Amino acid sequence: MVTSRYRALDDAFAGYPHRLHYAIKANSTVALVRHLRALGAAADANSGGEIAVAQRAGFTPEDIIFTGVGKTHAELVQAVTLGVKAINAESPGEVARIADIAAAHGRVARVAVRINPDVDAGSHRHISTGLHVNKFGVSIDDARSMIQDMARRPSLQVVGLHVHIGSQVTRSEPLARAADAIADLALSFVGQRVALEHVDLGGGLGIAYEPDQTVVTPADYAAAVLPAVRRTGLTLLLEPGRWIVGPAGVLVGQVVDLKRQPGSRWFVIADAGMTDLIRPALYEAWHGIEPVRPRPGPPVQSDIVGPVCETSDTLGSDRTLSPVEVGDLLAVRDTGAYGAVMASNYNRRPLAAEVVVDRDTWTLVRRRQTVDEMMQLDV
Ligand code: LLP
Repeated sequence: MVTSRYRALDDAFAGYPHRLHYAIKANSTVALVRHLRALGAAADANSGGEIAVAQRAGFTPEDIIFTGVGKTHAELVQAVTLGVKAINAESPGEVARIADIAAAHGRVARVAVRINPDVDAGSHRHISTGLHVNKFGVSIDDARSMIQDMARRPSLQVVGLHVHIGSQVTRSEPLARAADAIADLALSFVGQRVALEHVDLGGGLGIAYEPDQTVVTPADYAAAVLPAVRRTGLTLLLEPGRWIVGPAGVLVGQVVDLKRQPGSRWFVIADAGMTDLIRPALYEAWHGIEPVRPRPGPPVQSDIVGPVCETSDTLGSDRTLSPVEVGDLLAVRDTGAYGAVMASNYNRRPLAAEVVVDRDTWTLVRRRQTVDEMMQLDV
């Protein structure tokens, strides 16, 4: 499914010079990142660790974009000395630090500026990034003066403009507005000493988690942003994560207990919970849940919960679930993005194993963490 989704998104932009930089943060399992590279993707890394994953997966520095708020000195040194395709700078202070590091290492760093266009992505407030109250990027005006400043620094090359207004964006209108803002800014540099190579519209394309949820399609997305990008004539970069891998993953848990609530509702208690998938607890996100092998019988009104000592450790509330028994397997859908990558060892629960399924074969790509491994860092 990852293959077909990657190609569908890539095909939607086939009429215009573009490159998909897969957002490693969505799912950073090396085998999966390597697969995306084989399909032709480039990479978007959000930390020194993700740059290392990209390299382990076979990406060369020219294919890696380094993005993210709050890059450390060590991470900037790593990116500058590698010579990544672009560092998406988030502030004037960061630009100055990149310039100093590049000068000290005798390098010219390729830098893009992340703008904050003050556009409401319309997604959950925890994953919206494009408003001025959000910590991400700089205003259009600040970007303009930052870029003039960068053009004067010999250790920097201004290569692009970047924008990412949020994740799980389900309508095309905010994406179009962000593209317009970035295109206007790019065009304002025509004839100046700034030779931009690309505009990077970030990620954010949403998926349908709920059965009748309507979301923008790749074709709508392309139709919404390409008119603006065409005006610039620059190469388009995108940083998609969720859209490619989200629907391709399921979290499989086992029912460990059933408990009746007052009334007719049941608690279905699974061995998987918020330490494996935090999205329901963190964003009140909805994920489809169903038994792997449904049993006959009338459905049961259920809260599907995990084993962690937190009331928010709920995978799904008030669901109509086919009958299950202790030992049955449950599948939680659409967990390929922001699932395993956001897992924790809370309650000293080891990280789950990960398996890739390709038609009727499966391969272990990440083994289960052992309790001993979990304690290895305790000195
Ligand atoms: N580029 C940048 C700069 C980003 O910050 C992100 C996601 C992406 C690309 C990829 O966005 P996507 O295409 O996956 O929407 N944990 C949250 C999502 C956080 C997204 C963070 N940034 C969730 O589970 O919904």
